Amino acid sequence: MDTNVIPIKENIYWVGVNDYETQLFEAVWPLPEGVSYNSYLIVDEKVALVDAVKHTTSHVLLKKLKHVLKDRPIDYMVINHMEPDHSGAVAMLAELYPDMQIVGNKKTLEYANDYYHIKSQTKEVKEGDTLNLGKHELQFYLTPMVHWPETMVTYEKTQKILFPADIFGGFGALKGGIFDNEVDLNYYETEIRRYFSNIVGKYSKMAQKALKKLEGLDIQIIAPTHGPVFKDNPSYIIDKYDKWSRFEAEDGVVIAFASMYGNTQEMAEIVARGLSENGITKIRMYDVSYKHASYIINDIWQFKGFILGSCTYNTRIFPHMETLVNMLENKQLKNRYVGVFGSYTWGGGAFKGLKEFMDKSNLEPVEPSFAVKGSVSEDDVQQCYALGKNMAEAIKG
Ligand code: FEO
Repeated sequence: MDTNVIPIKENIYWVGVNDYETQLFEAVWPLPEGVSYNSYLIVDEKVALVDAVKHTTSHVLLKKLKHVLKDRPIDYMVINHMEPDHSGAVAMLAELYPDMQIVGNKKTLEYANDYYHIKSQTKEVKEGDTLNLGKHELQFYLTPMVHWPETMVTYEKTQKILFPADIFGGFGALKGGIFDNEVDLNYYETEIRRYFSNIVGKYSKMAQKALKKLEGLDIQIIAPTHGPVFKDNPSYIIDKYDKWSRFEAEDGVVIAFASMYGNTQEMAEIVARGLSENGITKIRMYDVSYKHASYIINDIWQFKGFILGSCTYNTRIFPHMETLVNMLENKQLKNRYVGVFGSYTWGGGAFKGLKEFMDKSNLEPVEPSFAVKGSVSEDDVQQCYALGKNMAEAIKG
């Protein structure tokens, strides 16, 4: 081996790239352990590359392609998803392989023109169309909005491999192992859920539609564009995805608080005690100033309840909490219990904002919701504890 090309089946290779340089995915979501851009090469009478990589890592992909293909050209570049973390290398490949055809649906090809001004070298495919490579045959299914409007999946019929783009993908670079039975699956499951909840979760309804569409396929291997390849047990990740996109959750509560001088934290801790003394063991507690919203949203996707508490800052919700609230509104989460509380010194504002969020959401509110002026009094302790206790009772049904 003179470069890191990994066979996933006979004549089908992982030629993906690990990126440890990008610190924030989409300039928003932290990547403490990097991310992989998975690209797959099928070598047959015709050569097809399924999904590519971010442009900053094109040279690594190119080295791998040359290693396998030598001077042989690529015939087809299948683009399941145009987001530039996968399509960034396409313009370079199109130039390098002038006879290569870019395979995508109508929307994909529209975006290929928008992003890379590619007007020719294209081959449009529609729902259910097939592409014969020799021994291997590809079939295409449209899965719009998981995660962009053009997203589709490619099913390799001979070896029964699904290339599902972002679906089933997650954060975390691949560290030697690329298959589900070679990696720490607990770590990747958390990072796949963080990818799902932050990037795809808003489109859960469309994810459900995609899962229904794929139900009839005999899938032996799932080869997504990020994270591990599921070869040993593909149904493991299908089941998880199904559960997450149906908003199913476990018993447990996330408390996220914003506190400048400790008073709102004290409230949060009494709420947490109310939870704990009433049977909730899985309690996740975060100060929003020091924990990126990405991780908090991931936990909120995992557990049945969450409670937001914020001090007031310039008559509004504290800035980092406001960011979290905006993100949660955008996600359109369902099937959760929610509680809120606030604190203030003069006019207030944080509690009003959080209460508006709770009232406008489709979530199940848990009372009491309240604001404390200054520091926590004896009466305030009762309210904080009651919120925790009532949330615990709601969770346990
Ligand atoms: Fe991995 Fe939606 O791009």
